[in-house]
Amino acid sequence: MEGLSRRKALLAGGTLGAVGALGMAAPASARALWTWSPRGSVAGAGVGADPRTVWDPDVDRVISALLDQGGVSQVNELLRTWITNDQPLPSGFPDDVRELMEHARQLPSWADHDKLAQAHDFNRRRGLYLGVLYGMASGMMSTVIPKEARAVYYSYGGANMKDRISKTAKLGYDIGTRDAYAPGGEMTVTCVKTRMVHAAVRHLLPQSPQWNRSAPEGIPISQADLMVTWHSLATTVMQTMREWQIPISDGDAEAYLHSWQVTAHMLGVRDEYIPVSWDEADRQAEQVLDPVLAPTPEGRDLARILLELGSELDGGVLSEPLLRAFTRYTLGDRIADWLDIDREPVHSPMIETFWPPFIAAREFGLGFPGSDETYWLFDELLRQFVLLYLSEADYPISIEIPQGNRPS
Ligand code: HEM
Repeated sequence: MEGLSRRKALLAGGTLGAVGALGMAAPASARALWTWSPRGSVAGAGVGADPRTVWDPDVDRVISALLDQGGVSQVNELLRTWITNDQPLPSGFPDDVRELMEHARQLPSWADHDKLAQAHDFNRRRGLYLGVLYGMASGMMSTVIPKEARAVYYSYGGANMKDRISKTAKLGYDIGTRDAYAPGGEMTVTCVKTRMVHAAVRHLLPQSPQWNRSAPEGIPISQADLMVTWHSLATTVMQTMREWQIPISDGDAEAYLHSWQVTAHMLGVRDEYIPVSWDEADRQAEQVLDPVLAPTPEGRDLARILLELGSELDGGVLSEPLLRAFTRYTLGDRIADWLDIDREPVHSPMIETFWPPFIAAREFGLGFPGSDETYWLFDELLRQFVLLYLSEADYPISIEIPQGNRPS
């Protein structure tokens, strides 16, 4: 990995969770009924309220007041020093902020540490595929989730995608670490901070004239929106690994799901909206993710930026044509057309013909029918993304509460 600094990798790899953290819903589907039953959730029951009309009221109230009263800079300063799950909150937070953070840092009663440990093991063994999928599937998909694309574009971080990506990639990194939710890990902290950021975005974006002009909604980041993005990450990655016929044991699949269930809870999603199984996740995704996918000018621009950043990896070994072809292969012709990602004359046929045998060669030791150069290129694609995925930044990444929107 000579020549590939972790910082550069992380920045260029915007494709990671940045990817995963941008999400949305189209107007037509926004009117469709929410019919997914809470019986399929981790709670097993619920009041059945339409999650498009539910946000995160307790956290939203406290963060709105903080923004209005002007105490954000001081809170951000303290947030910078709060790093690990078991670390006591630094002193100095206003009482209501401290109270919400103490509450938000509690793991759900149903968190299962054995499953979380197995999820880490799965991340370690399958990081090769997870890295490229968080980047090239989830990340690019986030740009065709209109609400997410617009929220990201017009929020403060939208003006500096490299920085935003590195912050979002932190979540993608933290979820795969050994102690993600254990003492010494950082995922609980990352989730609590992200939850506070989302609450700030709910308060700030409605004040943005540009966002109001382009986004036909009142308050962004509803519980439904959170689950849409969740599916663009967890469900899409699992579905694609299955399409690629990567062997995954039932125990691994369950453990990986569990780590994302806990993450949804820690991001403030109510248990009645969190799918209890992959079957339920697939069913919910069919209802909430598939119908909202649509192109927007903002999403196209974000996709262009992500592809450019991706091709900067390791001095450009992963050329833009390769990444464009891979995006088309992974997300399909419809989404690629929306994003103005043309079929590549050389790389598209190469991937369509040789990706399945490449996976078979890796997984089952079967002979690879293509050239050594093709095998090397595919291997490099996986390797570059796993480096991103498994690389902790070599500088502190601080997720902080924004105080404004994208400067116009
Ligand atoms: C910020 C993750 C859902 C919009 C963040 C951050 C993370 C994150 C880690 C902090 C990074 C930063 O401050 O830049 C996630 C995850 C989600 C999710 C894991 C779901 C499972 C959503 C949805 C939307 C959204 C549904 C919009 C519809 C934003 C915006 C920011 C943000 C606008 C702040 C950007 C700024 O700095 O101004 N998210 N997110 N996120 N997220 Fe999310």
